[in-house]
Amino acid sequence: MKALVLSGGKGTRLRPITHTSAKQLVPVANKPILFYGLESLALAGIREVGIIVGETKNEIQAAVGNGEKWNLNITYIEQEAPLGLAHAVKIAQPFMGDDDFVMYLGDNLLKDGLTDLVAEFQKNRPNAQILLSRVPNPQQFGVAELNGNTVVRLEEKPVSPRSDLALVGVYLFDKNIFKAVNAIKPSARGELEITDAIQYLIDKGYTVHPHIVSGWWKDTGKLEDMLEANRLILETKLPENAGTVDSASRIEGKVVLERNAQVINSSIRGPAIIGENTRIVNSYVGPFTSIYYGCHIENCEIEHSIILENSSIKDIKRLEDSLIGQNVKISKTDKKPAAYRMMLGDSSAVEIA
Ligand code: G1P
Repeated sequence: MKALVLSGGKGTRLRPITHTSAKQLVPVANKPILFYGLESLALAGIREVGIIVGETKNEIQAAVGNGEKWNLNITYIEQEAPLGLAHAVKIAQPFMGDDDFVMYLGDNLLKDGLTDLVAEFQKNRPNAQILLSRVPNPQQFGVAELNGNTVVRLEEKPVSPRSDLALVGVYLFDKNIFKAVNAIKPSARGELEITDAIQYLIDKGYTVHPHIVSGWWKDTGKLEDMLEANRLILETKLPENAGTVDSASRIEGKVVLERNAQVINSSIRGPAIIGENTRIVNSYVGPFTSIYYGCHIENCEIEHSIILENSSIKDIKRLEDSLIGQNVKISKTDKKPAAYRMMLGDSSAVEIA
């Protein structure tokens, strides 16, 4: 069993963060999303992993390297343009050969990992196994219609969904998927859809098994989803202190302080994580907040937010529900005229109370 991890795409729904950074590398609870997927593949006993990369190839390669950190052997496969998930499968055929494989969308997070799913696939030997999860907004996903335990039909982002069962971005395939991806035509959005390829398998009488996931699943394409994934992961963390907390500070609940994090005259209420070499001074950091490495937070209240590396936030009354990029500086000034002065990247969003 091999794996195919998709780590291309433009991440348009996470701009401006994705103008400068791959969406799969945005950290959730201070770890790039993509690393969670690689960890679960390694845990499931998979060694050979192909990663599909696009425009952000260099960045992904710099972060993941040859995979030895996870005891994985990584091969990078370049997709010249985002032509669809089934197109990614198509170009991975030489790497896969005749092997079965797990296909994993690099921005998906699955609580229960992959070990049981791989075992189930190997025991039952269907031609494909799809994962499904009930969602309140099926229009935004591939949607499955089941008859008992049989998949009758799949539709990509239907206007009138026939069920609330969304296709999770994790699939298990045998070599027959290559017949499908080579037979289908691009969809209305100009992409070769994996949903259509699986429908092809169904139509041709191949076995496609559904598996409804019981634990949570998150596709982290949008800000709200990132914040929710951050909440879900932070809740699973155990408290840890590899930093320093002065006697004027208070740490409550599940708080992780990474190496050399410093908490000075501040209050941190978990679940929260404070990154390596980050300083929290005269501040309050509230539940569901992840502050990555090298940040400086002073005279602020921050809650339910994700702050990326090397950013500095000073004298800001209260920040909530926010995603702040790398090397961002936010501060208060007494300069006249009193005004908001901003230099924001394209597609930034700011709400001021
Ligand atoms: C893709 C698939 C969709 C699936 C989703 C899961 O959509 O096309 O069927 O439900 O991933 O994350 P995308 O997020 O690429 O629009």
